[in-house]
Amino acid sequence: MISSLKDKTTLHNGVKMPWFGLGVFKVQDGDEVIRSVKAALNHGYISIDTAAIYQNEEGVGKAIRESGIPREELFITSKVWNSDQGYESTLKAHDESLRKLGLDYLDLYLIHWPGKHLYKETWKALEKLYKEGRVRAIGVSNFQVHHLQDLMNDAEIIPMVNQVEYHPHLTQKELHEFCKQERIQLEAWSPLKRGALLNEPVLTELAEKYGKSVAQMILRWDLQNEVVTIPKSIKADRIIENASIFDFEISADDMNRIDGLNIDDRSGSHPDQMVVGFTEGN
Ligand SMILES: NC(=O)c1ccc[n+]([C@@H]2O[C@H](COP(=O)([O-])OP(=O)(O)OC[C@H]3O[C@@H](n4cnc5c(N)ncnc54)[C@H](OP(=O)(O)O)[C@@H]3O)[C@@H](O)[C@H]2O)c1
Repeated sequence: MISSLKDKTTLHNGVKMPWFGLGVFKVQDGDEVIRSVKAALNHGYISIDTAAIYQNEEGVGKAIRESGIPREELFITSKVWNSDQGYESTLKAHDESLRKLGLDYLDLYLIHWPGKHLYKETWKALEKLYKEGRVRAIGVSNFQVHHLQDLMNDAEIIPMVNQVEYHPHLTQKELHEFCKQERIQLEAWSPLKRGALLNEPVLTELAEKYGKSVAQMILRWDLQNEVVTIPKSIKADRIIENASIFDFEISADDMNRIDGLNIDDRSGSHPDQMVVGFTEGN
């Protein structure tokens, strides 16, 4: 049983990744992101998920330095944006993310969205960074089974992580099974469906039964399904609330009830239709 903010899953290359972290999508660079990352780190979070496109890597880096926590105790993820896909441009984007973060290395670097034609070249760049020891783990985001199969036909290294939209309205069973088989760790983005699940009647009823909030029920459900989770909040009280999920366990019956809420409904783009930042070439 996952029992603390410090508990980790072991990726297929042996690197240990925290089960729980803070997401910073739509958090403004500067004071806002510095305050939320510091609130999380002060409360015991050790994992932060950012991306070049969030335009807050500088603030994330500043918060990390000001926290005084030794770098090696933290797990920092960033992602290569769609318009930077391709071999050379990915290598450049990686260096730019490190520069902005003020870090020597990332723990995890992801391809943010597959697009159509360039993800294999992009992956080669990630493999090079990994083989040179410049990043501890590499992975993908928003990859469907068909993207993974296609990538793995040519890849030297199987992605260690696939970060996808995942919550009780989008349980991604087939993709999760495939990832388990291939030892690719699934990670949930928008675990709270950006707030849209917080009044869901079954979740409200279960939250009352367990004496927890709906957000806590969902995040605990993620962990019991062995899915890494990275809820975002800019509010210290919610950052603490979201991580207060290690003192209870959802029963198998109630896990099934939450699984049963799936309606294959997304809050974000469908990976086969994502076009932002992509051009004809990629
Ligand atoms: N790879 C990708 O393509 C991708 C896409 C989207 C997101 N992500 C990553 O996943 C992270 C999480 O996803 P997300 O930010 O889209 O959505 P989310 O974590 O599902 O939801 C965040 C929203 O819920 C609110 N919230 C958080 N905790 C709450 C609580 N305990 N009670 C009530 N409301 C609460 C937040 O508001 P306040 O901030 O006001 O508290 C915010 O509006 C992102 O930050 C990002 O790191 C990745």
